Order: sequence, then structure tokens, then C-alpha cells
Amino acid sequence: MAATVYIASSSFVELENTMNNSPNLARLRDFVQALAALLQRHPAEPDIIAQGRALLAQLVAHDDWLPDAYAQPNPQRYQQYLLHADALERFSVVSFVWGPGQCTPIHNHTVWGLIGVLRGAELEQPFARADDGRWLPQGRPHTLLAGQVQAVSPTLGDVHRVSNALADQASISIHVYGANIGAVQRSVFLEAGTSKPFVSGYSNTTLPNLWDRSAELNAQLRATTPFTRP
Ligand SMILES: [Fe+2]
Repeated sequence: MAATVYIASSSFVELENTMNNSPNLARLRDFVQALAALLQRHPAEPDIIAQGRALLAQLVAHDDWLPDAYAQPNPQRYQQYLLHADALERFSVVSFVWGPGQCTPIHNHTVWGLIGVLRGAELEQPFARADDGRWLPQGRPHTLLAGQVQAVSPTLGDVHRVSNALADQASISIHVYGANIGAVQRSVFLEAGTSKPFVSGYSNTTLPNLWDRSAELNAQLRATTPFTRP
């Protein structure tokens, strides 16, 4: 009589161990798929902000998915690692890694943006233009802690300065923009009122591979496929 047994081969065990020690990239893949599905419905900006904020909050609620290569600070300046760019450039996802004390200049975006803190804390100071043309801080700076999400856009308020809120350690925030932000001309502003056009670059030349799902599918096979022996 044939007996059905489930065999854990050494290669599958190795696969499972690899999975357990690997960043959980499925979280990022799920996020980009959900955001693409949202944008596919052509929602108005308030809906993008509201639903995108909820999706990003889910992503930054867990700190187990960002590969170390995209979490490295640089003592010279903050780093912007592209994690994913939508094929139609409808959005991009960027890991900002702040060394202690690092900050951006005052800048705009020209597209909607969502900022979710993954690790540490970030300080966001909005700016508004005064009648004489100078850029002045608008209200008090917002402190964003790990798990919190902030939004910017030309309609919500588009000009701010962002910095690491921590003086003694790196912080990481996940920024999502309504375009490939590495291909958007925008501006930096001096408080005196002058501006300079710029296009922000990316610190990385390779991207995390979100699309190799073979390890998880093989683990499912291992758990469900019976090996039959006589
Ligand atoms: Fe910004």
C-alpha cells in the first residue's frame, strides 16, 4: 500500500532559511501593486493622498523589508535610493537615508508626495512665500516618528525643508511621488526669495528585485506537494 509522506529536502530547507533571513520584499511588492491598482482607477488627488497614505502607513508599519544596500547613510549627504519606478512613471518609491544632522534645502515637488518614516524620526518644516517674495517657515516643524506618514502637493502645500530629527543616528523615510521624481524639474529656494531649478538624482544604480517569487512559491510547493513512495 502506498504511503503519502511529506519530505523536507535539504534544498528546500536551505530555501526556507534563506527566506527567513532575507528582507521581506513582498511588503514592497504588495505596496507598489496596490498603488498601481489605485492609480489605474484615475482617482482625484484627495483620494490618491488618502488611500496612498493608508497604503504607505501599512508599508512603514514593519521594518523588515528594506534591503541593507538601500539603508546606508553617507557622511557627505543624505542618500536617495530608488526602490521602484512605475513603468508609466506614474509614481516612484524612494528610500531617503539621513545621516545625523543632515537636511535638504527648501524645495518643492510639483507633484503629490507621501513621506512615511521607517526608522528613526524626521523633521518637516513647511514654508510659505511672503508678500515681499521671501520664504518664511509656516507654523512649527512637524516631527514624524517611525510609522507616521505626511503628504505634500501643490494644492496641500508643496514647499518644505526636511531633516533628520536625530542628532546621533541615521533615520530612514520612504518617499512616494506622483511621478518618476528623478525626471521632474523642480526648484530649491533660498529664504531671501531666489530659486534655482534642479532635478534630483538617485544614489543607486541597481534596484531591489521585487519580482523573483520563486522562493516563496517553492516553499508553498514543499508544504503542499506529497511525495509518494511505494
Ligand atoms: Fe520634499
